[in-house]
Amino acid sequence: MSEEDFLKGKVALITGAGGGGFGREMAKAFARKGANLVINDINKEGLEQTRDIIRKEYDVEVLIVKADISDSGQVKQMVERVFEKFDNLFLLVNNAGIDGGLYTSLKAKEEIYDKVMAVNLKGAWNVTKAFFKQMRRQKHFTPIAGKIINITSCAGTPNGTNPYLGVYSASKAGLLAFTRLWALELGANNITVNAISPGVFLTPIYNNDPKLIRDFLKTRGVKIPINKIGEAKWVADVALFLASPVADYITGQNIILDGGMTISINKL
Ligand SMILES: NC(=O)c1ccc[n+]([C@@H]2O[C@H](COP(=O)([O-])OP(=O)(O)OC[C@H]3O[C@@H](n4cnc5c(N)ncnc54)[C@H](O)[C@@H]3O)[C@@H](O)[C@H]2O)c1
Repeated sequence: MSEEDFLKGKVALITGAGGGGFGREMAKAFARKGANLVINDINKEGLEQTRDIIRKEYDVEVLIVKADISDSGQVKQMVERVFEKFDNLFLLVNNAGIDGGLYTSLKAKEEIYDKVMAVNLKGAWNVTKAFFKQMRRQKHFTPIAGKIINITSCAGTPNGTNPYLGVYSASKAGLLAFTRLWALELGANNITVNAISPGVFLTPIYNNDPKLIRDFLKTRGVKIPINKIGEAKWVADVALFLASPVADYITGQNIILDGGMTISINKL
């Protein structure tokens, strides 16, 4: 296998791939390297759009699974669907997430707390719990049997803790903790687990509206040293790096992709 197609013969599952954001870009990036795809979301139409984009450009297989990752029953059915069609799962990207709106953590309504935690934290746990056993069995993939990438957020990191997205911030900090825990739990099985923490990116979560992002940053007095709003493709490029053999010795790490936003406490 050439470096060009390092995901050939391998299956990548991306949750939250029915939006126009990171999930779709990652699907394109992995397909470009030969991966067969499982794309998951609660948005069936969006998944069909992602599938059609992939099929037009790449000669890979794509399985759509509409499932709510916060529901362990639906996740179990997803496992069955995946292994009816494919014989491996090399790459799992826990990407699906919601912010639940703007609120400080102690003013958040209980329904918001439950929903945000259920999708962002329990959802990623449900999916990882459902698939890690198969990943562990994949000893024929050497030196690494499987890889997990969690899409967290700079809001989950100490410098980025965001009082305007209180429960979201806590949920992503929790997912960063799981990143380290799963790296410890699965390291002996040659499974790597890493996180990507994006800053502000133009995606459907921000209604694809740069003004909304700029206004949001202004209210918080936030400055980005590399003064650009991120493009979803940049997250996909980092995910592709983590998925590649070059990153086989990296585990339990978090790559903050934010143009320096979270280091800019003292602003110039
Ligand atoms: N856009 C940003 O600036 C930014 C920054 C930091 C982190 N993130 C994170 O990146 C990830 C992707 O977000 P995005 O910005 O690409 O937006 P997006 O809206 O394209 O992606 C989120 C997707 O998750 C899906 N989803 C929601 N609940 C689900 C559930 N219960 N089960 C399955 N799928 C579900 C949505 O339908 C949506 O398609 C999220 O976890 C988000 O928190 C985004």
